[in-house]
Amino acid sequence: MQALELLTKRQSCPRLIAPGPSPEQLQVMLDAAARTPDHMNLMPWEFVVIEGLGLQRLSDIFVEVAKANNSDEEGIAKSAKMPTRAPMIIAVISRITEHPKVPAWEQHISAGCAVHAIQMAAVAQGLAGIWRTGSYAEHPVVREAFDITGDDKLVGFLYLGTPATEQRFKPSRDIQAKVRYL
Ligand SMILES: Cc1cc2nc3c(=O)[nH]c(=O)nc-3n(C[C@H](O)[C@H](O)[C@H](O)COP(=O)(O)O)c2cc1C
Repeated sequence: MQALELLTKRQSCPRLIAPGPSPEQLQVMLDAAARTPDHMNLMPWEFVVIEGLGLQRLSDIFVEVAKANNSDEEGIAKSAKMPTRAPMIIAVISRITEHPKVPAWEQHISAGCAVHAIQMAAVAQGLAGIWRTGSYAEHPVVREAFDITGDDKLVGFLYLGTPATEQRFKPSRDIQAKVRYL
């Protein structure tokens, strides 16, 4: 895929099946993440790769969240199934370093750019993905399970895999109304 085609036509895919990224494809995706803009070289990111038994572990965590939220049986069952929506999920965490020149918000944005870079590298390799947070990313149960404290944030669960069906191409949006010149 040409670089500009990737940049101008990327879209998400919510329905993902196996195969997920191979170890080689995953490495390319992580190499793309390592190229993320990063003020003062802080590398304010952590990537937790979740596949196989890890997906079951994430399902257990989501069930714990649902129970803590007093969800009914249906809600608990729905939460348990959420991690089964892809063969691989990467949880991207912004790990904040206190720095006089780099406020936390810059580091969170850098982590968000890393999510995007990974998704783009997945699409470029014939895979697909969708970036999800939902209310769970900020839930205390999830924060504890992923050892997230203070300013650190789970900025996204990036679901990755093979598109389950051929994707309908979404037309590009008109960006002109969002652009002005100073
Ligand atoms: C920070 C962030 C969090 C998101 N969280 C969710 C989410 O929890 N659930 C969801 O369906 N989409 C979520 N999205 C949106 C999808 O990733 C996706 O961008 C959206 O469905 C539009 O599809 P597109 O990427 O093909 O334009 C989130 C996007 C961002 C940037």
